[in-house]
Amino acid sequence: MTEIRDLLLSRIRDVADYPEPGVMFKDITPLLADPAAFTALTDALAEIAERSGATKVVGLEARGFILGAPVAVRAGLGFVPVRKAGKLPGATLAQAYDLEYGSAEIEIHAEDLTAEDRVLIVDDVLATGGTAEASVQLIRRAGAEVAGLAVLMELGFLHGRTRLEPALGGAPLEAL
Ligand code: PRP
Repeated sequence: MTEIRDLLLSRIRDVADYPEPGVMFKDITPLLADPAAFTALTDALAEIAERSGATKVVGLEARGFILGAPVAVRAGLGFVPVRKAGKLPGATLAQAYDLEYGSAEIEIHAEDLTAEDRVLIVDDVLATGGTAEASVQLIRRAGAEVAGLAVLMELGFLHGRTRLEPALGGAPLEAL
């Protein structure tokens, strides 16, 4: 596990002052471009999916799509996108959440999840936890169960885990 962690960390690029001054952006594109690292990441997340007993993977726009889709295929599960508002053509459920300034809204196709589904949420980064928390609410409102949340990185200093744990209600939060 330490070996995978070191490989993944070595392929994440820190970009200072992006997208605004004072922010250190974690760029995962070098990891995606490296087949050994991308495969190791996919395998590790698929292992979490299998262990969680998930029936579906929900990926969060946009980088959660890149990571979640191969995980779903590798684990033999369906993939369901959570998108920013206004992008899904069918009947949607919507959930608003607060940002530092203002608010945002995400949506899911209601018919993509059923009461039989257990869902693993996959994303690249857990920061404040706002996006993941809203996703948990969407999945529950669609009638499905949340099997857990798996991310590549957790930015501990933003305390997303503390915010999310009550919403997850005992479902695991795993950060590689
Ligand atoms: C980033 C990241 C997570 C979210 C984490 O996505 O990929 O989805 O923010 O932040 P939070 O824990 O504070 O909610 P972003 O909104 O930048 O979207 P993008 O992937 O489409 O650029």
